[in-house]
Amino acid sequence: MSRKKMDGYESILAIEKLSKWFPITNAWNRKVGNLKAIDGVSLTVKKGEIIGVVGESGCGKSTLGKTIMGIHHPTSGSINFEGREVAGLSPFQSRQLRKRLQYTYQDPGSSLDPRWKIGRSLDEPLKIHTSLPREERHTRVREILEAVNLPESHLQLYPHEISGGQQRRVGLARILTLHPSLVILDEPTSGLDVSVQATILKLFLDLKKKFDLTYVFISHDLSVVRMMCDRIAVMYLGRIVELGPTEEVFNSPRHPYTQSLLSAIPQIGGKRVTEHFWLEGEPPDPSRLPSGCSFRTRCPFQDRACELEVPSLVNNVGYRWDACVHSQKNLV
Ligand SMILES: Nc1ncnc2c1ncn2[C@@H]1O[C@H](COP(=O)(O)OP(=O)(O)OP(=O)(O)O)[C@@H](O)[C@H]1O
Ligand SMILES: [Mg+2]
Repeated sequence: MSRKKMDGYESILAIEKLSKWFPITNAWNRKVGNLKAIDGVSLTVKKGEIIGVVGESGCGKSTLGKTIMGIHHPTSGSINFEGREVAGLSPFQSRQLRKRLQYTYQDPGSSLDPRWKIGRSLDEPLKIHTSLPREERHTRVREILEAVNLPESHLQLYPHEISGGQQRRVGLARILTLHPSLVILDEPTSGLDVSVQATILKLFLDLKKKFDLTYVFISHDLSVVRMMCDRIAVMYLGRIVELGPTEEVFNSPRHPYTQSLLSAIPQIGGKRVTEHFWLEGEPPDPSRLPSGCSFRTRCPFQDRACELEVPSLVNNVGYRWDACVHSQKNLV
C-alpha cells in the first residue's frame, strides 16, 4: 500500500479505530467485563512532526503507545506504519517490521536490565535485530553514545550507578542504535528536575534533526507539550476528544474537556487561556463508562443529546478536530 498523503504531508503512521480492551475478572478469574483503555482511536502522524498526546492519568496514553508498538495486542483496529499493516502480527514479524518504530518506557529503569552493564544493554538490541558483526556493533554503540552526550566510560556502569537523566539518555541510545524513523516518547521528562528537563528536551530536538525522526510525545506536562509539539491530541478515557495544531488548541480549545484541562495550568500574570470552568471531580470508573459522551458527567454543557451517542471526532474548522456535539454547533 502506498503511504497516504495528508495536507500535503507524507504520513508515517496511520491508526484507524484502534482499541485495546483489558478483561476485568472476578475473584474466581471469570471475565466479567472489559476495561476500554483505548477505544476506537484514529490518528495520522505526519512524517517529521512532533505530535503530543495529553490527558489525565489513566486516560490511555501509555496503552496507546504500547499498542502501536506491539507490546499490547490490539483488540481491534488497524495500525499502518510506513505503508504496511503492523497490527496483529506474530511477535517475529512484528519485531522485523517495527525496528524503525520504537517506544521509550515511561519508567526509564524498566527498559534496562539491572544486572547488565550499560554496554550490554546497548549491544543487545543490535544483536537481536541486526546481523552486524561485533566490531560494527561496537562502533555504532559508541557513535550513538556520543550523540546522546554520554561518555564511553558509562558502558561499564550498571543502571543504578547513573542518574535518572542519564538513564533517559541510555534509554534513547538503546533505541537509536536501531535507526528508527518514529519514536514514541512516553512521559520523557517525568521525574527530572527542570534544568535536566531542559537539556533532555534540547537533546530530543537535536536528535530529531540528526536522525530525521518523527516523535509521538506522550506527556501530562502541558507546558512542555506546548513548547515541543506541532500538534496535540487530547485524550479522555480512551478516546481522542480534540486534535489540532498546538498553538490553536492552546489559544482556543474547542472541547469542554480541553478547556477545563487548560484552565488548570498555573498562570504567572496574564489571563487564563479559558475562564470557563475548572475540572472538577475524578473521571468515571473506566470499566463502567457512562452512555454517550464519557465526559458528560463532568461537563457543564451536558444535556440529553450527550447521553444518546458517543460523539465522533469531526474535522470542524481548518485542521481542528473535536468530539463534542455542542462545540460542533459552536454552542460551547
Ligand atoms: N496491562 C494492563 N492490564 C489491565 N489494565 C491496564 C493495563 N495497562 C493499563 N491498564 C488500564 O488502562 C487504563 C489506561 O492506562 P494507561 O497506563 O494507558 O494510562 P496513562 O494515560 O498512561 O496514565 P498515566 O498518565 O498515569 O501514565 C487504566 O485504567 C489502567 O488501569
Ligand atoms: Mg502512562
